[in-house]
Amino acid sequence: MSEPFFNPFDPAFRANPYPFYDTLRASEPVHRTALGMVVLTRYEDVSATLRCNDFSRDVEKYSEQSTSPARQRRRQRNEGRTKSILNLDPPDHTRLRRLVSKSFTPSAIDRLRPRIQQLVDSRLDRAEEQGSLELVDDLAFPVPFQVISDLLDMPTERVDELRSWSQIITNSLEPTATDEELDATEVALESLIPYLTEIIEHRRRHLADDMLSSLISVEEEGERMTTGELMAFVVLLYIAGHETTVNLIGNGTLALLRNPDQLAIARKHGINGATIDELLRFDGPVQQTVRVPLVPVHFDVAGERVCVEPGTIVLTSLGAANHDPTMFDAPHELRLNRSNSNRHLAFSAGVHYCLGASLAKLESEIAIGSLISRFPTLEMIDTPQWRDRLTIRGVSRLSLSCS
Ligand code: HEM
Repeated sequence: MSEPFFNPFDPAFRANPYPFYDTLRASEPVHRTALGMVVLTRYEDVSATLRCNDFSRDVEKYSEQSTSPARQRRRQRNEGRTKSILNLDPPDHTRLRRLVSKSFTPSAIDRLRPRIQQLVDSRLDRAEEQGSLELVDDLAFPVPFQVISDLLDMPTERVDELRSWSQIITNSLEPTATDEELDATEVALESLIPYLTEIIEHRRRHLADDMLSSLISVEEEGERMTTGELMAFVVLLYIAGHETTVNLIGNGTLALLRNPDQLAIARKHGINGATIDELLRFDGPVQQTVRVPLVPVHFDVAGERVCVEPGTIVLTSLGAANHDPTMFDAPHELRLNRSNSNRHLAFSAGVHYCLGASLAKLESEIAIGSLISRFPTLEMIDTPQWRDRLTIRGVSRLSLSCS
């Protein structure tokens, strides 16, 4: 099969993937790539796949595909490691999710509101003094980073090293990650894990009223997380806690600036959870995730059954599903009053639905809401730069004048 539409290396795709998704969805909604992976772009297929127990999230266990030497090395190294919740299937996933969900109740997250507001305000005070703001470095990164560091009671003096390790680890999630990038992840983990171990061990000896302490002590019907499970979860939380939300604040602000009529509505009525849902639908930070069928599965394409065999890597395109016109009218328009924005799949669906969704929404609501209400003449100074990534989509630089 030819490869006309889904060329992730094309710079135009990286700048704006949505027209490419449209072409693919219209012509070949169950697309097989040259490497044998399957890409799904219809809302209905993506949603059904994410919710279906015939698919596993554990690609390393159930798929032999795309086994470059570095992926083989990673597979071998990971055999001895405890998997994070994100890579587990039920019933292991169910047990762990029940234990960790206790730390993510809506009331626990809402208690963070004053602290988030204080962090945002102090960043905006500085921007006001300077008359300008580099959105990513001055607001979108530091706020979620500080919040997750507070929650896990992590020191922040080594911010530059921590940011670099977590970016290297996030790069390895890309389907296009090179062998060098995969090997670099190992080096980053070898630095991050001892660092986190020290922090966890210290907290274990001095339990306090924070999320890390509650994760250490959480217990249900005599079950606790093992040390390995706790470590894998803390690494995931720490990285997911800031590598994604930074892009919601960045992409969301950019979307509003590019749509002045919608920005005016947001200024008039304020930003709430529904506004953030539309920003997530319009240009979400996580563009795709993966599943592997455990049994032969079928998709209906123009009345024909297309079979996908067990072990095939299936890329579910969340970005394409969120722009499917059969689900969302005029999907490429940002409409803050859209009635079904909350049906977006930016946080996935089914058992792996993002555990940090309420936190990410709260942080973005406060950051974007405060930014636009405080600076009525906010303007872009130059062209936004995009990260060179496919799975995690986000602006890397967005310079704003806020005088
Ligand atoms: C806008 C920001 C965020 C986006 C777009 C996002 C997106 C996602 C997606 C798509 C998944 C599921 C992937 C799959 O089904 O394969 C996921 C899972 C997860 N996310 Fe987020 N996330 C965000 C913020 C956060 C934050 C702030 C945290 C924690 C502080 C977090 C913690 C997690 C965890 C622990 C999982 C695994 C859940 C499970 O497997 O049961 N995320 N996220």
